[in-house]
Amino acid sequence: MSDTRDAIAIGDGTAADIAAVDAVMQAAFDPRFGEAWTQAQCLGMLSLPGVWLTLAHDDELLVGFALTRAIAGDAELLLIAVRPDHRGRGIGRALLRRAIADAAKRGAGRLCLEMRAGNDATRLYVGEGFVQCGERRDYYAGRSGERFDAHTYVRPIPLG
Ligand SMILES: CC(C)(COP(=O)(O)OP(=O)(O)OC[C@H]1O[C@@H](n2cnc3c(N)ncnc32)[C@H](O)[C@@H]1OP(=O)(O)O)[C@@H](O)C(=O)NCCC(=O)NCCS
Repeated sequence: MSDTRDAIAIGDGTAADIAAVDAVMQAAFDPRFGEAWTQAQCLGMLSLPGVWLTLAHDDELLVGFALTRAIAGDAELLLIAVRPDHRGRGIGRALLRRAIADAAKRGAGRLCLEMRAGNDATRLYVGEGFVQCGERRDYYAGRSGERFDAHTYVRPIPLG
């Protein structure tokens, strides 16, 4: 797998980036599973204390993002996505590592996440030290009314 991470700029985003984030979201999440958020949900979450947006740009193009929250010593990866045509370049891993580093700076002792059971992203998470810690049955409501379980994962963040 080629790794062109050097060409990718990882940085912080703001509410002004949500339209571009939504374009990545719509391209990245399969609508069958009901995982994508609306722009209003993203904006609402981003307006809360302790929530931040991380962006990955390839030149001018937004190719990936992560939305993370840290509160009371805990952090949660809320969303992470990369455009399908830019996957396999280490962008997801770079976003995840930045989210972990930012969570550490904010004093979080662990980073939690949840994802649909069977999501291929499991490989990325396990590779970055996450372990499964729970299951939420029928958590996601798919487009056709089908329900999908969620799995929760956690990764300790060593004290700096
Ligand atoms: C998950 C996601 C962000 C990974 O982005 P990416 O830029 O392709 O990830 P990377 O290139 O950094 O790959 C990291 C590792 O995960 C693996 N991986 C990532 N996505 C994978 C997939 N769909 N199938 C198999 N392996 C995958 C890669 O092979 C790599 O492992 P390796 O280095 O051992 O080969 C991307 O697939 C995505 O946007 N998925 C849809 C949205 C989603 O489900 N998000 C997670 C739940 S919020």
